Amino acid sequence: MHKTLHITTYGCQMNVYDTQRIEEMLTVLGYVLSTKMDADIAIFNTCQIREKAEEKLFSDLGRVRLLKEQRKESGKQMTIVVAGCSAQALGGHILKRAPYVDLVVGPQTYDKLPELLAKIERARISGVGPGQGILGIGFPKISKFDKLNVPRGFHGVSAMLSIQEGCNKFCTYCVVPYTRGAEYSRPLEDILKEAQNLLKQGAKELTLLGQNVNAYSSQSPKGNTVTFSELLYRCAELEGLFRLRYMTSHPREMTQSLIQAHKEIPQLMPFLHLPVQSGSNRVLQEMNRQYTILEYETILENLREARPDIAFSSDFIVGHPGESEEDFEQTCQLAARVGYSQAYSFMYSARPGTPSALKSQLPFEIKQHRLYRLQEILHKSQLAFNISKQGTCLPVLLEKKGKKTGQLLGKTPYMQSVYVQASPELIGSIQWVEIQQGYNNSLAGSLKNRACYSLNNTVQ
Ligand code: 5AD
Ligand code: SF4
Repeated sequence: MHKTLHITTYGCQMNVYDTQRIEEMLTVLGYVLSTKMDADIAIFNTCQIREKAEEKLFSDLGRVRLLKEQRKESGKQMTIVVAGCSAQALGGHILKRAPYVDLVVGPQTYDKLPELLAKIERARISGVGPGQGILGIGFPKISKFDKLNVPRGFHGVSAMLSIQEGCNKFCTYCVVPYTRGAEYSRPLEDILKEAQNLLKQGAKELTLLGQNVNAYSSQSPKGNTVTFSELLYRCAELEGLFRLRYMTSHPREMTQSLIQAHKEIPQLMPFLHLPVQSGSNRVLQEMNRQYTILEYETILENLREARPDIAFSSDFIVGHPGESEEDFEQTCQLAARVGYSQAYSFMYSARPGTPSALKSQLPFEIKQHRLYRLQEILHKSQLAFNISKQGTCLPVLLEKKGKKTGQLLGKTPYMQSVYVQASPELIGSIQWVEIQQGYNNSLAGSLKNRACYSLNNTVQ
């Protein structure tokens, strides 16, 4: 009998990618994916970026504990694994607080999962052996997935591809450099191989992923440095690639050559997620972001010059220690000035072990009130952007079936979701869609019955 596997994923795209790779690795070994948490193996791929994600983990662990006990009563076993960033940050603390967890494994050691699961299994059968949860949270030099060598199975239209991990930036509020470790860039050849493989299996769009994706820098076998913009040009040469995206970028790494790539690479979509975090130079300095608002806005200006229709998205943190009313006001003004097409905004959450957590904290009510105020501006700006597309024709990559019958869901070059009546055979193609309505989070349009073959996806 095959063992069943369920993974609960919290947090960012990097975790979603890791979950996919863990699923691939374990299904190759005969595990069968289950939609229910009540499985032979329940993995929690965790996030540590804000306190809320950590709280959610422990409440979910409480639930799975009951399932494990129920299974035991009917003579069945369950292996509970905590993986991801909280595993890395909290380590043995998880085993102490939730002793029914069998394995805690950090984001850099997933390649060891089969071995560790087998160890737990052997111990259960023989009755000899760890007796308590196992901890696997090292920082090996080679990226976990480069060691795996499992060809990726992929079904879909838009694929994620991890090219870089970790972060050396040490923003004072952020736990990532501690949970994901130092920056590591995968070799170019491995990335191109994985990309080709994904395209062969039907992917039309690739999103290159990394915590600090545009800090990508690897060595070729001949010892030359491969920069991020070079990698983009190489990806753009791949046959069958219609659309190319990347996230998440740091403003410090937006080089001239990368901005030029936005002008020259037709497959590179006119949408960029470039987190600013705050509109106040004083707070940016406190956060160790290493740029000023003038520098940030100059980058946006240069990108707009390179690709006039480019749309921007950002992350914001409100209520960082020391943020005054005036600092916050500057954030609101920046948000209104830029006119983001999308944005994520968060209340600052003190993370143990980070420098900002040691500072005097703002009251929750102030942070909450500021978040509401900023979100009002951001929501308005997003709606205005969506409405501005009404009456235009956009090339839409049709990705999957929508909720209503006969409906497909696709994406514009600007990452807007579009609902359109269309036949399922069109999934995977780019079609011209006339936009009828712009809503808060999506667009509605109708098919122009004319496929879009133009690679640069420009409006016709
Ligand atoms: N509190 C709130 N938000 C945070 N982020 C990172 N660390 C924190 C924190 N301690 C946000 C940043 C980052 C996004 C992924 O999460 O905006 O860009
Ligand atoms: Fe965190 Fe800053 Fe690194 Fe982004 S750049 S992962 S916010 S430390």
